[in-house]
Amino acid sequence: MGPAIYLDYNATTPVDARVLEKMLPFFTEHYGNPASDRHPFGWAANAAVEAARLQVADALGVKPNNITFTSGASEGINTAIKGIARAYAGRGRHIVTVQTEHAATLGCCATLERQGYNVTYLPVDQDGLIDRAALESSLTDETILVSVMWANNETGVLQPIADIAAMVRARGIFFMTDATQAIGKVPVTANDVDALVCSGHKLYGPKGVGVLYLRERVRVPALVDGGGQERGLRGGTLNVPGIVGMGEAFALACSCCADNAARMRGLRDTFESVLCASLPGIRFNGQRAPRLPNTSNVIFPGEKCEHLLMSSLSEVAISPASACASGIAGMSHVLHAMGVTAGEALRTARISLGIATTEEDIRRAAGVMIAAVRQLEAA
Ligand SMILES: Cc1ncc(COP(=O)(O)O)c(C=O)c1O
Repeated sequence: MGPAIYLDYNATTPVDARVLEKMLPFFTEHYGNPASDRHPFGWAANAAVEAARLQVADALGVKPNNITFTSGASEGINTAIKGIARAYAGRGRHIVTVQTEHAATLGCCATLERQGYNVTYLPVDQDGLIDRAALESSLTDETILVSVMWANNETGVLQPIADIAAMVRARGIFFMTDATQAIGKVPVTANDVDALVCSGHKLYGPKGVGVLYLRERVRVPALVDGGGQERGLRGGTLNVPGIVGMGEAFALACSCCADNAARMRGLRDTFESVLCASLPGIRFNGQRAPRLPNTSNVIFPGEKCEHLLMSSLSEVAISPASACASGIAGMSHVLHAMGVTAGEALRTARISLGIATTEEDIRRAAGVMIAAVRQLEAA
């Protein structure tokens, strides 16, 4: 048995060596505080932060002034959703989102509901897609924000962001997207939306740093009050090495997006066809919808396969779709919304490939899984 194969890149990615190299001097050499505007240490740090801001803005096709560095996607989501809700409560108190969003979005919406806001959670079909007409008819005079993720972290399903954003924005309603899983895997621009968030550690950058894009007309209060950093939107001394890493990772991810995506799509499709050829009855959630090129959400066949995940997890690092054998309560809300049963969720896993994944990795991983299913079925 060789070392475990990492196929959980949607959970997190390693830092790219080129990114780390750019970050290192900002720990030990250029350690100034970017807010220290009276000496060269501060100037150097500030210049590096602004260079990173420009890298991100260029990659997203927007102006650097609209980019705020955060601690990650969760913070960006909290700042945007709670901020818009509070700043524009005078216009209305209705928000629309989707049942399959990340916990950060659903959590913000739940908090706002407790504070008297109304939230519509749009359903998805079996393929994980929202219905444009249902979205349109959910909008009311009270709606201030629609938040729809670009790509789902569990299934990779892609929503038609440009189309729905145009429809929502034409009604004078803010449109936000969580693009955390999309950056570097599919082309992403922030031009069509009012707010966009993403995270460094999903794109071969460091953990603990993220990006929040806000269009000029979106004015939100600070989530963290402090020394006025980030144009007053986020108090606290900037994480300079992290931000430098974020800028570099972002630029690399976007410039290599097409090549990386084509390679990963080829490997993911091979992985799925190898499994299909050996395991009749296997299913892939979201397979009929547009999907991220690196993600495969697999329902293994056979009633006994609930134990499959535990038995193959030591050799292949993947994400199970169920926390434990505790039925609906422990099951993925994303799969539940797509009509997957609690029993099926127990034998479902997310396999997510990365730029370092090789054909040997995916063939070996598929082999481990096929052997585990056969062994369990024969027992
Ligand atoms: C789609 C999506 N949104 C938000 C997040 C949260 O990101 P962070 O860890 O940077 O807060 C994640 C990470 O799991 C994610 O996959």
